[in-house]
Amino acid sequence: MKLTHDAIERNVWLMVVLTLLVVSVGGLLEIVPLFFQKSTTTPVAGLKPYDPVRLTGRDIYVREGCYNCHSQMIRPFRAETERYGHYSVAGEFVYDHPFQWGSKRTGPDLHRVGGRYSDEWQRVHLINPRDVVPESNMPAFAFLENAPADAAGVAAKMRGLRKVGVPYTDAEIDGAAKMLEGKTELDALIAYLQGMGLELKGAK
Ligand code: HEC
Repeated sequence: MKLTHDAIERNVWLMVVLTLLVVSVGGLLEIVPLFFQKSTTTPVAGLKPYDPVRLTGRDIYVREGCYNCHSQMIRPFRAETERYGHYSVAGEFVYDHPFQWGSKRTGPDLHRVGGRYSDEWQRVHLINPRDVVPESNMPAFAFLENAPADAAGVAAKMRGLRKVGVPYTDAEIDGAAKMLEGKTELDALIAYLQGMGLELKGAK
């Protein structure tokens, strides 16, 4: 059988195989370079790995499913940059495993929320969102206030992250548990929120 246009259009399985081949090659050509491109693998200037408190807060963020209502990816559209600040760039997420981009926005994007409110506002809001935003439908996370942050597990977590390229030093890992002493999960989560996206906040 000759591979003519006519033969391909008359044979559905041949069509399926060839379509898959084209899509796979096209997909690989788009995806593979991203693993090697500078813009996706080099941290933006000033980006630091999460300190132990923020790292712990980030895990609480993931555990509580905050990403189900909040994205962390500001698109390069005027309406977005006017509202949130500089659009997100890939180099801001090189230490995020996994990143929290998402497209679901029941609540606002949080990528540049760091420093927008005081710690106290964040505390009150997380304990009961309705106390500061009466029309809010965000769930209350008051129980975090009584949960001690996981000091025992943080060093192992940092060692794991170091294996995938986050540059933690031995001294940072050794001192990690101490930084979480006496902290609640609420403290850690607030620290995480307050550090979010600070690098490019002022840029336009
Ligand atoms: C069911 C959806 C939902 C979930 C889950 C949720 N939120 Fe929200 N969040 C919202 C909505 C809606 C708003 C806007 C109203 C308000 O400020 O309360 C909001 C607002 C916020 C704001 C203020 C943002 C701003 O720019 O004003 C922060 C910070 C925040 N949420 C953090 C969190 C964190 C942290 C979690 C997880 C512990 C979480 N949210 C879980 C829906 C949600």
